[in-house]
Amino acid sequence: MQKAFTLVQITDPHLHATQEGTLLGMNTENSLKLIVDQIRQEVSDIDLIIATGDIAQDSSVQAYKNFLRFIDPLNAPMRWIPGNHDSRANMTEAVQGLDHAEPVYVLGDWVVVMLDSIVPERVYGNLAKDQLDILEQALSQYPDKYILVTLHHHPISMHSRWIDQIGVRNRDALTDLLKQHSNVRAVVCGHVHQESDELVNGVRFMSTPSTCVQFKPKSQDFGIDSLGPGFRKLILNPDGTIDTTVSRIEGVDFEIDYSQKGY
Ligand SMILES: [Fe+2]
Repeated sequence: MQKAFTLVQITDPHLHATQEGTLLGMNTENSLKLIVDQIRQEVSDIDLIIATGDIAQDSSVQAYKNFLRFIDPLNAPMRWIPGNHDSRANMTEAVQGLDHAEPVYVLGDWVVVMLDSIVPERVYGNLAKDQLDILEQALSQYPDKYILVTLHHHPISMHSRWIDQIGVRNRDALTDLLKQHSNVRAVVCGHVHQESDELVNGVRFMSTPSTCVQFKPKSQDFGIDSLGPGFRKLILNPDGTIDTTVSRIEGVDFEIDYSQKGY
């Protein structure tokens, strides 16, 4: 029997080794824990959690261990990719012997491909040849399955001057690859701390709110948004369509430092 699969995207939790850690004034451990509680209330039977980078703000091994502990109540398999604030080495050390970093995950008629778009010490992203190869190989190995591509950095314009400077630099390489394969149903990213869902050259691109502080959409300069932390639910249907919703924490007064001019 053909089955739909339920994914939850958790992105940009920016955790620290210690409980007091903040991003732009917001306590990131507290907000992630609230998100996990909300996921437990709203989503049952999660087939896969995709954690799309900036797992840690301080890139410490302890922060990654904290993340694993905080999402444990969701009781679902998880795959993660690094963001610009992360350390590949420390992520690997935190999950020794586990397969959280495996880039290809098959779910029935669907394949989730998670690409590492980080450039060490840089805020912007780039898809190195080994990552494009992973995608190309998955596309040729699974021509009859639907493909969901995920990465940390946004590979399209977010219509925001400062954010557009920190996206994937070689987005054309990805676009060229996607053009050749009509079975790629969507590309999902984090990094931009805001919700979007846009069709660009026939491919659906989605970004998802951070589990902590949000950035103002379409702002020319760095801007903090007052919207609450969020997550995305994705239902991958057997006919290749995707049903998706973004949920946010409502009714909680989070502390945010609006005076900061960058992050
Ligand atoms: Fe982030």
